[in-house]
Amino acid sequence: MSNHRDTRAPRGRPSTPAVFSAPSEQIPNQVGLALSHLAHLIDGALDIRGGPVDARSFAARSLGAGREEIVVDVRSLSPLDAVLVGIRLAALMEEHGVVGVMGGDGEPTPMWLSLDTDDGSERYPAEIYVSFAAGTLSTEPVVLGIERDWNSQSLVGFSVSANGARVREIVNTVAAEAGELSNPFRMRTVLADLENNRLRMRVTSNLDGDRSDVVLPDRVWSDLDRHVVSVFRSQARLAAAGLSTNRGVLLHGPPGVGKSAAVRALAASLVGEASIILCQSDVVMRRIDSLYGELGRLAPALVIIDDFDRIAPRGGEQMRDFLIAMDGVASRHQGVVTLATANNISQLDPAVRRAARFDAEIEVPLPDRAARGAILERYLRDIESVVDVPAIARATEGATGADLRDLVTEAVLVAADAPISTELLRTLARERIITVPRGVYL
Ligand SMILES: Nc1ncnc2c1ncn2[C@@H]1O[C@H](COP(=O)(O)OP(=O)(O)O)[C@@H](O)[C@H]1O
Ligand SMILES: [Mg+2]
Repeated sequence: MSNHRDTRAPRGRPSTPAVFSAPSEQIPNQVGLALSHLAHLIDGALDIRGGPVDARSFAARSLGAGREEIVVDVRSLSPLDAVLVGIRLAALMEEHGVVGVMGGDGEPTPMWLSLDTDDGSERYPAEIYVSFAAGTLSTEPVVLGIERDWNSQSLVGFSVSANGARVREIVNTVAAEAGELSNPFRMRTVLADLENNRLRMRVTSNLDGDRSDVVLPDRVWSDLDRHVVSVFRSQARLAAAGLSTNRGVLLHGPPGVGKSAAVRALAASLVGEASIILCQSDVVMRRIDSLYGELGRLAPALVIIDDFDRIAPRGGEQMRDFLIAMDGVASRHQGVVTLATANNISQLDPAVRRAARFDAEIEVPLPDRAARGAILERYLRDIESVVDVPAIARATEGATGADLRDLVTEAVLVAADAPISTELLRTLARERIITVPRGVYL
C-alpha cells in the first residue's frame, strides 16, 4: 500500500505556508507576536482570495454560510473503520460527484491510499474534506471529512446549525454503510505497525516458506499443529462444545535455530484459513489494545509477535498493557491465536507465563547431529559439492541452523567456481565455531 498525497487536480491555494525563517532569538518577543499576527491576517486574506485554509472555512464556503454558523459532527473511527469509511466515501464521491475537495491541515490536496484487494488495488481517501452539492447526499449541500491526528482518526460532517440533525444522520449512515462493506483485511496477511501513534494496518504479500525447508524435531511441528493449526481447523467443534478457541503459543529457543523461519512456514500454510497479522514491536509496545480491539472482525486470526522477549522484558511497563489486551481477547473474541517467539523466556515477565496467557510453550532446541546433517543437505542441495555431510555434522556441534546456512554461504564465496569440499567446510567450521562463543543469547 502506498502512502502519498494525490497530485491530481489540486484545489485551493498552493500549500506554501507563510514561514518566517529568521532565528527567533533575533526577533524581540513583541515583534514576533506582531509578525505572527500579520501572518494570520495574510492567511485570512489568502483565504478570501484563493481558497480555504482550514476545514471550517472550507465548509463555510461550500455551504454558503459564515464560518461562525458552522457546526461539526465528529465520529471517531477505529483504524479498520477509517479504511472502510474511506472506501465508502470514495464510492459516494464517484456516485454523486463533488463540488469541492480539500486535504487535511489546510493542505489543498487530500491524501489517498491504496489497498491491495483480491481483484487489484483500490484507492480510498485517508485525509480529506469533500463537499457534496445540494440534492445529492441530501437536499442541502453537505461537507464530509476524514480527519487524522497523532492518535486517532474520525469521520466529520459539517453543517449550518439548522441542519445539524440531518448531517448527524448522514454521518451515521455513511459509517453504517461502511461497516457493511466486506473487511479488506480479513483472511489476508496484514502488517500492523504505527504511523505516528495510530495503529496502521496494511495488506502485505503472503509469507512464503515451506515446512520441508525448516529442519525441526517432529515434536516441534506436531506441537505447532496442535496448538495453532488445529485450533483453526477445529474451531467449530470447540465452539460448539463451549470451549475456548483462543490460544497463546510461545515458541522459544536460542537465536538462529529457525523459530522465525518456522513461523513463516506455518503462516504460509494457513493462508486462506486465517487472517495473518504480523505485529510490529511498536504496536505491541504502544497500541496493543487497538490491535486486539480489531481482532473480532479479523478472526479467525493468527497474531505473530516476533522476538517477544525484546519487546516485553521482565517488569516492563508495556507488559501490563499486553497482558490486559490478551486477557481481553479471551472474553471478547473467538478464534484468535497469538504466536510469539522468544530467544530467552527467562527474560520474559513471569506474569506472562504464569496466568495461562500462553497455553503452550514450545521449545526449539539447537539442532542435534542428525538435524545438522539434514540442514547441511538442505543448503548444499543445489550446489555442486563433494561433502561428507555426517562428518561436517559431527564437526559442528553447537551450531544453529543459521550458522550452518552461513557456513555454506561462506564456502560458496571462498570456493569460487570449485565444488564445495569436505575439507573447506571443515576448515571454515573450525574458524567459525571457535570464534563464535556459544551460549551467549543476544
Ligand atoms: N532448523 C533450520 N532449518 C533450516 N534452516 C534454518 C534452521 N534454523 C535456521 N535456519 C536458517 O537461518 C535463518 C535464520 O533463522 P531464524 O528463523 O531467523 O532463527 P530464529 O528466529 O530462531 O532466531 C533462517 O531463515 C534459515 O535460513
Ligand atoms: Mg527470529
